[in-house]
Amino acid sequence: PVLVVDYGAQYAQLIARRVREAQVYSEVVPHTTSVDDMLAKDPAAIVLSGGPASVYAEGAPSVDPALFETGVPVFGICYGFQLMASALGGTVAHTGDREYGRTELQVTEAGRLHGDIPEAHPVWMSHGDGVTAAPEGFTTTASSPGAPVAAFEDVDRRLAGVQYHPEVGHSPHGQLVLERFLRDVAGIRPDWTAANIVEETVEAIRAQVGPSGRAICGLSGGVDSAVAAALVQRAIGDRLTCVFVDHGLLREGERGQVERDFVAATGVDLVTVDAEEVFLRELADVVDPEEKRKIIGREFIRSFEGAARDLAEGEGVDFLVQGTLYPDVVESGGGTGAANIKSHHNVGGLPDDLQFSLVEPLRALFKDEVRAVGAELGLPESIVQRQPFPGPGLAIRIIGSVSADRLATLRRADAIAREELTAAGLDRTIWQCPVVLLADVRSVGVQGDGRTYGHPVVIRPVSSEDAMTADWTRVPYETLERISTRITNECAEINRVVLDVTSKPPGTIEWE
Ligand code: XMP
Repeated sequence: PVLVVDYGAQYAQLIARRVREAQVYSEVVPHTTSVDDMLAKDPAAIVLSGGPASVYAEGAPSVDPALFETGVPVFGICYGFQLMASALGGTVAHTGDREYGRTELQVTEAGRLHGDIPEAHPVWMSHGDGVTAAPEGFTTTASSPGAPVAAFEDVDRRLAGVQYHPEVGHSPHGQLVLERFLRDVAGIRPDWTAANIVEETVEAIRAQVGPSGRAICGLSGGVDSAVAAALVQRAIGDRLTCVFVDHGLLREGERGQVERDFVAATGVDLVTVDAEEVFLRELADVVDPEEKRKIIGREFIRSFEGAARDLAEGEGVDFLVQGTLYPDVVESGGGTGAANIKSHHNVGGLPDDLQFSLVEPLRALFKDEVRAVGAELGLPESIVQRQPFPGPGLAIRIIGSVSADRLATLRRADAIAREELTAAGLDRTIWQCPVVLLADVRSVGVQGDGRTYGHPVVIRPVSSEDAMTADWTRVPYETLERISTRITNECAEINRVVLDVTSKPPGTIEWE
């Protein structure tokens, strides 16, 4: 793999994705990983990410200079670029010229990375310190107003770096520069394609489950569990049984989508468990979001265990398939010890007495890769392009406790919003659009001839590439108007529709 060393900024995962978009497999590793441990992974190249610290600050994360003696190609970005410069004898100084945001890069020497790109072009910068002298053997290839050395390379030693962030969309030539490093400097062949991912994953599943092991897979209706199930089915055929737990927290039409569309596409063996009663009983009066998640995670597994017991009758189902994605793994601290922001129920909330071994065929994949794999496996568009929906379902979109009535109200409002957004052709523009019921808030309204005292719903359309960051989507007023009018007309309990215009950060996408 290409290892992306995480220096603590939000950017490491994004860099890893960009490397994958160049069709090269990548993994994020913490900056505390020793050079020996990195070498043990047989890296094709190493990318040092950006980070919030100053290279010279006390306790600032550093790089072992031995890394540059290993012969492994290294690319430094922002903080990683400065670390590289100072480890190899260049100078990093507090230039006094902070640059934050869009800056113009001046290419001073084409070099291997910046040839054939406009000599002056915009890049995204975020730094206080700057490299003032490149290390010996390096050619400085670009500068910017606040960074006299904004890019350098030593093609013979296969080392290079840039002060700017090539991984963000605001650096329009960044992806090309990254690809050139991987291809033309590091000499890596791009072979991380959907077909190869399927092949490798199917092999790995067969190895894990063995020749006679049986597996059970929970379908949530989402793309992740569908693709995970389809991969496992490809690997072990009818030794896989899919279980769909209808926990009563689903959106309108979702049960039918699983029972009809997915089964039609895969021919998989499917069992549906009616668990609404249990979930609603366990969730009654629970208001705390993390508690909701823990209960749902626990009951979800319990439902599986029950189904597995019924199914296996002595033969035993040993494996549980989960659609855990790479960002979940990293966010839950599996990657870098990053703060556990929300305990995603499919990673953090497993009960201690779990009786299955987990099969997680998507554990190394980003969302867009999951979709590509789904298409490769022949799943229909309606499943592959489905917008994300959280495992805990509508329970974390009711602010307050969960009840059947509240769920029915929210389900209808959500269906209306989705219908209108689809009708407006916005499905691809919008990453997802939670509709949130503020069940404990009431406001006065006037509907028909009388005064009402109802609840607001929040519409939260967001645009995102990976759910790590998001911006609120500028939905046309006419569409918002239709959503608002229809919801207040058709949902008796609701007399107000409000729009969430918060980006992430600071807000998360979901309200809980
Ligand atoms: P946040 O709210 O953290 O959401 O910005 C990021 C993405 O994750 C989804 N999400 C969840 N998915 N279990 C899930 O499977 C959860 O507990 C959970 N919480 C949030 C959310 O819908 C968004 O796509």
